[in-house]
Amino acid sequence: MCYYISRGSIPHKRHTRHMVNGQLAFEEVFGTEGFSGTMSTIYHKHAPTAVESCEIGRVVEPTYVQSRVLRMRHLKTQDMLPNGDPISGRKVLLGNADVEISMCVPNERMPTLYKNGQSDECIFIQSGSGTITTMFGKLTMEPRDFVVIPKGTIYRMDFDKPIAAAGARFITMEYVNGSHIQAPPRYRQGGVGQFLENSPYCERDIRAPNGEFGTPATAMVDGMYEIIVKARGALHSFRYLHDPMDIVGFDGVCWPYCFNAMDFAPIVGQLHLPPPVHQVFEGHNAVICCFCPRPLDFHPNAIRVPYAHSNIDSDEVMFYAEGRYPARRGISQGSITLHPLGIPHGPHPGTIEATLNQRSTDELAVMCDTFRPLAPTQEALAVEDEAYFSSWCAPKTKALVQQHA
Ligand SMILES: [Fe+2]
Repeated sequence: MCYYISRGSIPHKRHTRHMVNGQLAFEEVFGTEGFSGTMSTIYHKHAPTAVESCEIGRVVEPTYVQSRVLRMRHLKTQDMLPNGDPISGRKVLLGNADVEISMCVPNERMPTLYKNGQSDECIFIQSGSGTITTMFGKLTMEPRDFVVIPKGTIYRMDFDKPIAAAGARFITMEYVNGSHIQAPPRYRQGGVGQFLENSPYCERDIRAPNGEFGTPATAMVDGMYEIIVKARGALHSFRYLHDPMDIVGFDGVCWPYCFNAMDFAPIVGQLHLPPPVHQVFEGHNAVICCFCPRPLDFHPNAIRVPYAHSNIDSDEVMFYAEGRYPARRGISQGSITLHPLGIPHGPHPGTIEATLNQRSTDELAVMCDTFRPLAPTQEALAVEDEAYFSSWCAPKTKALVQQHA
């Protein structure tokens, strides 16, 4: 979705000879929507098509359960134990035909390179820091970063060592419907151009790859470079004798980037403003919002938590990353809630009264609203707080009122 950048060595005219140290570079057009969407033009030292072997590995399509069960859910990802590397450790918790939402608590290093050949990914780093080495150059990842990785990008995530001690945790929203993650068009001139004055973020907040190309030698397997390619619902092993990230330069608008949630300038109002003011990204049939630390509504009689609302057309997922979310009791950092379409949800009993004089919130939460129902996986049920759906009920209201009387 980003603006034009150029890194490294490229020829003056596209599709012309580009000599690098006496060798002809190999041009690759990395484009979306056929040849009609955004693209980058990449120059390799070796032919990107020179594959030594390709093998199908394991199927990774999630298996959903309880798809007809309608209830509000609370998943405690804080109870998930470290497992796997930043790719194999991703556990899909909720999903549908448009988006898969996974949590990862890695404790191993990625042995290879990775490419998601079927989906754009939006990763939110709850904790941990490190480097993402991509075919477009390196990105430094930090807590509270959104990392947007276009479909087809070769990359590798390396958290600072040791991973477990660094407490790496991240959530991934993968647009399995194949659509592209972008800023809301209403933030940009003509829907695709420069960020407008009323946008809560702009180009300066987007951290582009640094153009430092190449793969760390530690990524080699049996003397060859391996890319695990996710496509057709399975992982495939592609091996090369040359470094597939042997890029000397590129230009274009299709590249991965980081955006830190603390660079989102929250829009606040006299009275409660609905979630679209918190929107940060969107793809087909799913939007991503970011609730950042901010002043609360400033009307003297404002109700400072959201009113009860029915998501008539969408399921709502909230990931509570940091701080205290004033409208909910019983959730903590790492909690995920699912509030499905078909039933209303709203503030927990007592939270309206408790926040009447609150002037600001330190919450940091990421929301993903989907326009088709989400189903949980077995991994989600393993960390579910099954009492959550009834946590608004009257007996608890009475008990709380008595407690505060
Ligand atoms: Fe909501």
